[in-house]
Amino acid sequence: MPSELELIEQLRSELHRHNHNYYVLNAPEISDREFDLLMKQLEELESRHPEAADPNSPTQRVGSDISKGFDQVRHIYPMLSLANTYSIADVDAWAGRIDEALQGQPVTFVGEMKFDGTGISLIYEHGRLVRAVTRGDGVMGDVVTDNVRTIRSIPLQLMGEGYPDFFEIRGEIVLPWAAFDRLNAEREAAGEPLFANPRNAAAGTLKLQNPAEVARRGLDAYLYYMLGENLPFDNHYDNMMAARSWGFKVSDAMTRLHSIDEVDRFINHWDTARKELPVATDGLVFKVNSLRQQLNLGFTAKSPRWAVAYKFAAERALTRLRFVSFDVGRMGIITPVANLEPVLLSGTIVKRASLHNDDIMRALDIHEHDMLYVEKGGEIIPKITGVDLDARQPGAERVRFVSHCPACGTQLVRVEGEAAWVCPNKYGCFPQIVGRIEHFVGRRMMNIDGIGEETVAALFRAGLVRNIADLYSLRPEQLTGLEGFAETSARRIVDGIEQSKTVPFERVIYALSIPFVGETTAKKVAAAAGDIDRLMALPAPELEAIEDVGPRIAEAIVNYFADPANREIVERLRAAGVTMAMPEGHDAGPVSDLLAGKTLVISGVFSRHSRDEYKALIEKHGGKNSGSISKKTDYVLAGDNMGPAKLEKAEKLGIPIIDENEFLAMIGE
Ligand code: IVH
Repeated sequence: MPSELELIEQLRSELHRHNHNYYVLNAPEISDREFDLLMKQLEELESRHPEAADPNSPTQRVGSDISKGFDQVRHIYPMLSLANTYSIADVDAWAGRIDEALQGQPVTFVGEMKFDGTGISLIYEHGRLVRAVTRGDGVMGDVVTDNVRTIRSIPLQLMGEGYPDFFEIRGEIVLPWAAFDRLNAEREAAGEPLFANPRNAAAGTLKLQNPAEVARRGLDAYLYYMLGENLPFDNHYDNMMAARSWGFKVSDAMTRLHSIDEVDRFINHWDTARKELPVATDGLVFKVNSLRQQLNLGFTAKSPRWAVAYKFAAERALTRLRFVSFDVGRMGIITPVANLEPVLLSGTIVKRASLHNDDIMRALDIHEHDMLYVEKGGEIIPKITGVDLDARQPGAERVRFVSHCPACGTQLVRVEGEAAWVCPNKYGCFPQIVGRIEHFVGRRMMNIDGIGEETVAALFRAGLVRNIADLYSLRPEQLTGLEGFAETSARRIVDGIEQSKTVPFERVIYALSIPFVGETTAKKVAAAAGDIDRLMALPAPELEAIEDVGPRIAEAIVNYFADPANREIVERLRAAGVTMAMPEGHDAGPVSDLLAGKTLVISGVFSRHSRDEYKALIEKHGGKNSGSISKKTDYVLAGDNMGPAKLEKAEKLGIPIIDENEFLAMIGE
C-alpha cells in the first residue's frame, strides 16, 4: 500500500496528464466526472497533509473549480492605455502633432476598431502559446492561460513560418453580441444577475475558475499589437498581416491610411458601419505605422504618443423616472440612484442610473415621474444627463435628498467642501459594516476565498463577525453551525483567512477602507511609511510629502488612525499575525547616492530589467530620469532598438551611451 504522501504524488502526475490531454490536446482519456473524482481525492489528501503543499499541484490550477484565484506576473512591457479623443477635429490635431514631431517625414497611419472587451497579453515561445495575462493594473496581471486556451480563435500552435522564437501579441477578448444575448437570457431564466454589457461579461468570463464554463460561453479574440525584439517587419500593419498568416484573428477593418483626409473618411464610415459588426466596439484606434517612427515618438507616462483612440459618441435614451432610491456605501456615502422604466441603450437594458450626489441631483432639478435622458459612455454605470422639461407632469414635486440614512435612520451629515452626504453611524449601520468587511476580503485586498456578500451578512447576523478583526477569531465549527455551510466551505474560509496573513502590507492598507485610500495610494503610503507604527504616527505634513497624497487624503489617514475603534482593530489584526510592515530590506529612501546629480535618458528595449525598473533604479541611487537627450544629459542607458534619432543626438553631443550591464555595474549590482 502506498503511503498517503506517495498517493498525493501519484494523483498529481495523473491529473497533470489528464489536464494536458484535455486542455492542450483536446483529447481527454477520462470523463469529466472521473477527473473530478480524482481531483476531489487529491484535495482531500492535501488538506490532511499541509506539509505537502505545492503551488504546482493540479488542485492549485484552474482545472479545478475550487482554485484559489490566479497567479500574478509582471508584464514584460507595461500595458498602457490610449489617449482618448471625442471628435474628428481632435484626431486631426493629433495627426498634425505627429507630422510636426516627425518633421515632415512621410507618415502612414493604421486605422482599427477599438474593441470593447478586456485586454490580453499572449506570450508565444517557439510557436506555442505559453502564457496569457490580463491587463491587471498595467504592471502586473493575472495569468489566465488555462481559460484563454479554451478560446478557439486563439492559436495554441502557430502555423506557417517567420514568427520570432519569442514574442508577445496583444489584443482584446470579446464576447460577441450573439453569445452575450444568449448568456444573459440564460441568466435571466435562472434568476441570476445580468451582465451590463459584453465587456463586463468578457472580463467576468475570463476570470472564471472553471475553464469548461469559459469554453461554453463562446469568447472570441482580436489581436492588434505585436511586441518583441525580432519582429518580421519594421511596421505595424505588415506585422499584423503576418500574425494573421500564423493563425491569429486580425480584424478585416484594419486599414492603412495615407492622409488626414483618409483618416477622416475612416471615421465617418465606421461611425455607422460599426453597428453591423458582430462584436461591441467603443471607438476607433489610430496608430503610426512605422515602428521606427513609433520609437521616436515614444510614450507619455500613461500612453503611447504614436496612437490615439477616437471614442464614439455615447448613445442616449429617454425614459421615465419611477423613483429615486439612496444607496449606502462602505464609507457611509449616500448615492442617489434613479430607478427607471427599463429602456434599451447600446444593446443593454437600463433600469438604474446613478445621480451621483446632491449637487448633481439639484443641478438636474429632477421632479417626480420626469422623463430623463440616460447616457452610457465607456463606463459601466449609466448616467442621467438631462430632463425633458416639456414632459414634466403638472404638480410634480421636486425630488429631495433624504435627510436620514435609509439603512439605519441616522441623520446624515455633509462634509465641508464635499458634495456627499454621509451617514456618520460607522459602526452601527449595516451596509457600511458589511461593505467594509466585503471590501476587506476582496480579491485585490486580503483575497479571502469563499466569503461573498451573503456570507458576510450571515456572519454578521449570527453575531460572529462585526468587524474585520473578528474574522481572525472564526473557528470552523462556528461556521458549520450556520445554515447552509458544509464542512468543506467552512474549511476553505478558515484556510483563506489563515493565508491572508501573508498578504503584503500595501494590500492590508488598501483593505482597511481608509477614506480616499485606493489601491495606488495604499501602495505609495505603505512603501513610504514602511510599517504600521510609523504610518499611524505620521503627521499630515509628512503624509503629504508622499507622492499622490494631498491634504484631503492626509487628513483622512490621520483621522482614521485617531479613531480608537480603528486602532483597536489594527492591534487585533497585528496580534492575529496579519502583515503590518514592508518586507525585510525594504527602504523607502534612496539606497545610495552613486548617481547623485546625474541625469539619465533611457532608450530601447532591455532584457535584464524592465524600463520602469531601470527608472526606479536610477531614482533609488539618487539619479534623475529624463525623456529627451540634451546637453544636461550625463548618460544614455541604451537597450536594443534604440531610436536612430536619439542615437544621432547622443553622439553629436558626445554623451556616453551605456548598456544595461555597464549601468548595473555602475550601481554595484
Ligand atoms: S492598442 C500601447 N488597439 O483599448 C497601445 N488597443 O484604451 C496598446 N483596445 O488597453 C493598445 N482595441 O485593451 C489598441 N485596436 C486596438 C484596441 C485597443 C481595443 C483596448 C486595449 C487598451 C485599451 C486602451
